Amino acid sequence: MALADLPRVPLGIFPTPVQQVADLAGTPGLRDLLVKRDDLTGFAWGGNKVRTLEYVLGDALSLQADTIVVAGGPTSNFAGLLAVAAAGQGIDVVQVCYGEPRGGAAALALSKRAGARVEFTGVADRSSMDQYAGELAGRLRAEGRRPYVVPRGGATPIGACGFAVAATELIEQLGDRGITVVIPVGSGGSIAGLLAGLASTQVDVVGVSVSRPVDEIEAQVSRRTAECAELIGSAGPPPPWRVVDGRGPGYGGGWPEADELARTLLAYSGFVADPVYNAKALYWLNGHRDELPGPVLYWSTGGALAAADELTTTPSVVGKEASS
Ligand SMILES: Cc1ncc(COP(=O)(O)O)c(C=O)c1O
Repeated sequence: MALADLPRVPLGIFPTPVQQVADLAGTPGLRDLLVKRDDLTGFAWGGNKVRTLEYVLGDALSLQADTIVVAGGPTSNFAGLLAVAAAGQGIDVVQVCYGEPRGGAAALALSKRAGARVEFTGVADRSSMDQYAGELAGRLRAEGRRPYVVPRGGATPIGACGFAVAATELIEQLGDRGITVVIPVGSGGSIAGLLAGLASTQVDVVGVSVSRPVDEIEAQVSRRTAECAELIGSAGPPPPWRVVDGRGPGYGGGWPEADELARTLLAYSGFVADPVYNAKALYWLNGHRDELPGPVLYWSTGGALAAADELTTTPSVVGKEASS
């Protein structure tokens, strides 16, 4: 099906700007960059995931779902956004989180404020969310509801279409010239859509994996790219791409070197890099810029809520505030 024919709920402000930045943080690896500002998508602190959401919600509405069951941990931007957007369409949302009940993350608070019900799997492994969500949907179906299940990060072929559109947007902005795109990778849905949309172009894509081992995520991205390409009838093979390891100590924030870079970015240019995705990806880029051919475009994906979480839970900052 052509991209233009897929059901979509318009939520964001597109195209997002491509900014030419001479010096992002006073460090050689982050000079002379193009920055694709998906931190400015304009819907509820949404970042890149607004693109995904437009298609996921469009699909849910076209299937006349009355409940969306979304897998997403307490810091999931996607789940928070989905709760807001679905409420606007009169659809109930159940967010399935891993582990034991806990609060404290702005993204989860956003879900709750939008009226989502939150259930915890009781299991620390993040993959427990997808299984629990499937079982919950089964129970809802048995009660006569029409649930629509969304896996972590909205990483479905339909969700990836949001980034296939973003690829078209980028080509319209820059033309099909030899650039290297660097983008943070979590579930892999965004980069998969980008690759499907960039089929047969000269753009080189480097994904920085922030949570999953490279082998695992590369296989996942290959699969999702092929599925999305088939769905939208992409012409030709994906452009050259690879995924690199930017996990640091593992999923989430708390990587001192990356967090330090995020603090520098904010002080130097007012650029907000969240600790989970963008601080790690930019930290990788800063250390590996010499290896990348051609002009580099950094795909800024947002994450403002996690950045605010980091700010409000850093003892030195909170302490200063308390004593001032
Ligand atoms: C701010 C931010 N950046 C990047 C990503 C990664 O996107 P994906 O899960 O599609 O790889 C996410 C995913 O939730 C995100 O919230």
